[in-house]
Amino acid sequence: MNYTVIARRWRPKRFDDVIGQPHIVATIKNSLKYNRIAHAYLFTGPRGVGKTSLARILSKAVNCLNRTSEEPCGECDNCLAIDHGTFPDIIEIDAASAGRIEEMRSMLDTVRYMPMKGLYKVYILDESHMLTTQAKDAFLKTLEEPPGHNIFVLATTEAQKIPYTIMSRCQRFDFRRIPESEITGQLKRICDDEAITYDEGVFSYVATEADGSLRDAESILDQVIAYCGRHIAERDVINIIGIVEKEVLHGIIQSIFDNNLKKGLEIIDRTLNQGYDVHQIYRGLVETLRHMMILKVWESLPPFLYLGEEEYARLSKLMEGLEYYEIQNMVHYLLKAEDLLRGPFPKVSLEILYINLYNLSKLRDVDKVISTMGRQPDSLKERETESLAPPPREEEEKIPEKTFERNAEGFVEYLKEKMPSVGNMLEGLVVTMEKGKFVVHADKTSHVMFRHREDDIRKYLAEFFGADTGFAVRDGGEAKRNILEEYVREAESLFKI
Ligand SMILES: Nc1ncnc2c1ncn2[C@@H]1O[C@H](COP(=O)(O)OP(=O)(O)OP(=O)(O)O)[C@@H](O)[C@H]1O
Ligand SMILES: [Mg+2]
Ligand SMILES: [Zn+2]
Repeated sequence: MNYTVIARRWRPKRFDDVIGQPHIVATIKNSLKYNRIAHAYLFTGPRGVGKTSLARILSKAVNCLNRTSEEPCGECDNCLAIDHGTFPDIIEIDAASAGRIEEMRSMLDTVRYMPMKGLYKVYILDESHMLTTQAKDAFLKTLEEPPGHNIFVLATTEAQKIPYTIMSRCQRFDFRRIPESEITGQLKRICDDEAITYDEGVFSYVATEADGSLRDAESILDQVIAYCGRHIAERDVINIIGIVEKEVLHGIIQSIFDNNLKKGLEIIDRTLNQGYDVHQIYRGLVETLRHMMILKVWESLPPFLYLGEEEYARLSKLMEGLEYYEIQNMVHYLLKAEDLLRGPFPKVSLEILYINLYNLSKLRDVDKVISTMGRQPDSLKERETESLAPPPREEEEKIPEKTFERNAEGFVEYLKEKMPSVGNMLEGLVVTMEKGKFVVHADKTSHVMFRHREDDIRKYLAEFFGADTGFAVRDGGEAKRNILEEYVREAESLFKI
């Protein structure tokens, strides 16, 4: 028995079967509803996201013999013939192999004949950027005066190679990569339909590997099923795709937080000995830390991350007690360091990269590092809220409450009593007294917050320190970034031995 690949069996047959391109489907359906069909379309976008499929559905819709809505009926002779690829009025041309002028001419010759069975002849030019210049010119002439019974659909993965003269005569649709959650959803649907069972989370491996192409995802699923049979096990998928297991990645990341360099190096060594290469480990680390970063921002599982409950729980546990920027620092460093792995000693590079990540995690509490750095470096620019005030006249000041030390931290304690909403917010931030000014080192969001409360803060500052006390908010993020940049430079200098 012949086996038809999943991608073919699951080619969408109606508009509503098309996944992940709602803006395009809605526009085309609308134009059908109001009978405003264009005569030339340009479908651009990455491979395997539905361009050819949608061109065929459009052909069906315009040629369906008993269409009552925008959808083709799927049952009339024309619909069936189109599904079977035997409809004479659809002319599919692969420009990659038939881009020559002779073929183009003979195709264009047929343009003037009426359709045989349907209302429209539909020309689908796949990979249309591959047409030769002569072929493009000939085609352009046709586009300029298209006889009313023709529809041209140009499909291409490289829109920038389509000349403007052609492009401007087409209605253009940019197909997007299919989101991971929609890919996993479709793979599940396919397996459920074909009575194939699976471990939780297996499809996220496939979706990641397919990188937005549903066809690629379905081809990988074909391979997986060929290998696994009726049940898809996580381990098998990992083997087939050649990705590093999640436990390995969790182990490496955990070792950083546990101060256990030996363990991390040992896991890396073991994984490489199993036949994985450094890039696979690197990619896995980036991917996992990215998930952690997003989870930290979202504070729950966002709809666009398909992780599975178990992985979600494991990552949440791994992140306990971490701040957002600690994770971001690691991702940032990893991305910057990618080039290192291309050197002649990838294993050494990966080890150094890992040790650097470990060192970087020592900077976890950058706020604390900053506050012990002997106050702010001059290079940090002060923001608008700054006011120029002379130093306080020490002798005249009176301390309102004995229990508060007369320094920046003391003032925060004081505010916590007088104006808890602001005081509590300040408690988590670095505050300093500089030249008679109370300075808060904050990120952009809290910046705004402080501007709203500035008058109140000044009032209490005057009460606490004396009337002339100034107030300023500085971008604490800048300080963090500077430290990080410095650290990365230092780390990089290690490689220029
Ligand atoms: N948006 C989608 N909705 C549902 N299935 C899709 C979609 N995109 C791709 N597929 C699946 O992938 C197969 C191939 O899709 P299609 O030929 O339409 O992709 P394409 O964008 O034309 O790719 P290429 O640029 O390589 O020609 C379909 O038969 C279907 O199984
Ligand atoms: Mg195609
Ligand atoms: Zn029909």
